[in-house]
Amino acid sequence: MTVPDPEPVLRVRDLVKHFPLTRGVLFRRQVGAVKAVDGISFELFRGETLGIVGESGCGKSTVAKLLMNLEQPTSGGIFYKGEDITKLSGRALRAVRRNIQMVFQDPYTSLNPRMTVGDIIGEPFDIHPEVAPKGDRRAKVRELLDVVGLNPEYINRYPHQFSGGQRQRIGIARGLALNPEIIICDEPVSALDVSVQAQVINLMERLQDEFGLSYMMIAHDLSVVRHISDRVGVMYLGKLVEIGTDLEIYDHPTHPYTRALLSAVPVPDPELRDRRERIILHGDVPSPTDPPSGCHFRTRCWKARERCAREEPPLAVPEGFEEAEGPVRHPSACHFAEEKPRGAGA
Ligand SMILES: Nc1ncnc2c1ncn2[C@@H]1O[C@H](COP(=O)(O)OP(=O)(O)O)[C@@H](O)[C@H]1O
Ligand SMILES: [Mg+2]
Repeated sequence: MTVPDPEPVLRVRDLVKHFPLTRGVLFRRQVGAVKAVDGISFELFRGETLGIVGESGCGKSTVAKLLMNLEQPTSGGIFYKGEDITKLSGRALRAVRRNIQMVFQDPYTSLNPRMTVGDIIGEPFDIHPEVAPKGDRRAKVRELLDVVGLNPEYINRYPHQFSGGQRQRIGIARGLALNPEIIICDEPVSALDVSVQAQVINLMERLQDEFGLSYMMIAHDLSVVRHISDRVGVMYLGKLVEIGTDLEIYDHPTHPYTRALLSAVPVPDPELRDRRERIILHGDVPSPTDPPSGCHFRTRCWKARERCAREEPPLAVPEGFEEAEGPVRHPSACHFAEEKPRGAGA
């Protein structure tokens, strides 16, 4: 983990992605929209790891694809060095994309089975030949294999000849090929055995220090990102509901949803387990085609009142916490935010 620099490398503003829902084959007509990402703003600082957590379907991968320019936003902006990259095209876009790379969730399906490891890792050079001229490519790929802890002699092998952990190392080597500043990691270890997860995470931490990388680390589980994140953002139904440092989110959460997520994280120590807050959420996550008015979480929230249906809480330091000092004072999108009871450490 590195100390974050106050200058953001990426600034996301009011980002929205609605996928149109259509009906009919001959006459396609729009009957609604999947509000996958529904207005989120955050910064990614130089050298930091920002964890993004939330249940399946809350919009995490869509955020990643928007940052990678694999999807066009419905509205909002993504600023890299002050420039809105959603407005760029052609050469300007290509130059930015070089600096923002992605490591995908599933190393079993994200690597082309018909390509050798050398071709997979070297493929980004086809689009950016300036990084590695033709004659240097093999040497560069061998170096990348070495950097991620794989034998450079494996350069001519195919993905099926590797284990899951090794395949994810190949995915990481590919992500590093263009020497990016930012790597977006979409659940990079969730398809791997628990025993291998730590090795891959350790590798990613080492690479971050070595290359000064900024990471956005997506996970559906709060415990996975805890140890690697400088800050964590919690998503629910297309929105960021709370964001803060590791200490603020894990030890001083103020949003009911974050508290519920934390109460579901397994605790090995029986004494701690007995003392901590237990929250069971009732009902399912509402459909993103028709999210609740006001606060999206209110239909499952035990604290919800009439105001929550009427007025959407902004992601800001909540009422009553403006004067507070220390880790409770951080952005949380709740009208009735509170600190969890004492002795409820998760
Ligand atoms: N291309 C798409 N077309 C329509 N709906 C989509 C598309 N991609 C994602 N969605 C929907 O958007 C929501 C968020 O999906 P996603 O970003 O993949 O969530 P997560 O990564 O948090 O599981 C889901 O309801 C999903 O079904
Ligand atoms: Mg996903």
